[in-house]
Parts: sequence; structure tokens; C-alpha cells
Amino acid sequence: MEKTLVLVKPDAFKAHHTGDIVKRYEDEGLQLLAMRMMKMTKEVAAKHYEEHIGRPYYGELETFMTSGPIVAMVLAGEGAIAKVREINGKTDPAEAAEGTIRKLYAASKGENAVHASDSPESAAREIHIFFNETEIFD
Ligand code: TYD
Ligand code: MG
Repeated sequence: MEKTLVLVKPDAFKAHHTGDIVKRYEDEGLQLLAMRMMKMTKEVAAKHYEEHIGRPYYGELETFMTSGPIVAMVLAGEGAIAKVREINGKTDPAEAAEGTIRKLYAASKGENAVHASDSPESAAREIHIFFNETEIFD
């Protein structure tokens, strides 16, 4: 089964959408293999978003992602990576399809409720930033 790393970002956590978001993934047939609540440090943010360091929005992204608690999880299922990104919707909620998590809960392109891995390579890399093998109930 394919695995993907998902984060409920500080905006969605603060607005009490964590339960609705997790329920949505479960209702869509995805399986929870790991889950943890935490506050991102700048170091973890830099690891997780390494390809974005140096972009004009990186400073805001770092400030936002370290601003409050997040919920990290590993989800699994057939085609989980693409499936979760479809459920989440486009990066900018203004462009996200009706019914997607970002359309429902995100306020802006920067503060957009959820993160999900975009490829098998990024999933493998990102999962191990947040979880040890012993914490993944595969
Ligand atoms: P990206 O990987 O392009 O989007 P996604 O989260 O859909 O995979 O960008 C990572 C995050 O960086 C994005 O969720 C929000 C932030 N970001 C901005 O704030 N402004 C931008 O123009 C872009 C491209 C991203
Ligand atoms: Mg991305």
C-alpha cells in the first residue's frame, strides 16, 4: 500500500478542523498508520520544506508553520499520494475545487490548511522527518 505524509497546518488546527479533516480521509478509504500532535521548529520546517528555501514566500511559510500546533499523520491506501492531494485541492484555495479540504477550510495560498506529499520520493523523505519505523503501524 502506498503511504503519504499529511500535516494539518496551524490554521486548520486552530480553527478546530482536525477531526473533520481526519474523518474525511478515513471516509475516503485511507488508513491511518501514524499520528502525532507537535509544534514545528524552524529546523524541522527547513527540512520538510527544503526545496522552498530561498523562495520569496519562505519567510512567511516558516513563520506560519511554526506558529502553533500541527497534526502529522501517515495515511496509506491504493494511490494514496494522488488521492490525498485531490482531496486537499489546489495550493491556492481560490483555485481549489468545490468540496476539497482547501476550498472548505483554507483562507489563502500561504495558510492553506493541509500539506500532503507530492511523489513517492517526497513521501519517503517526509514520513521519516516526523516518524520512526516503530511509530508507523503498517
Ligand atoms: P507547494 O509545494 O508549491 O504547494 P503544495 O502545498 O500544494 O504542495 O508549496 C508549499 C507551500 O508553500 C504551500 O502549501 C504554501 C506555500 N506557498 C506560498 O505561500 N506561496 C506560493 O506562491 C507557493 C508556491 C507556496
Ligand atoms: Mg508541495
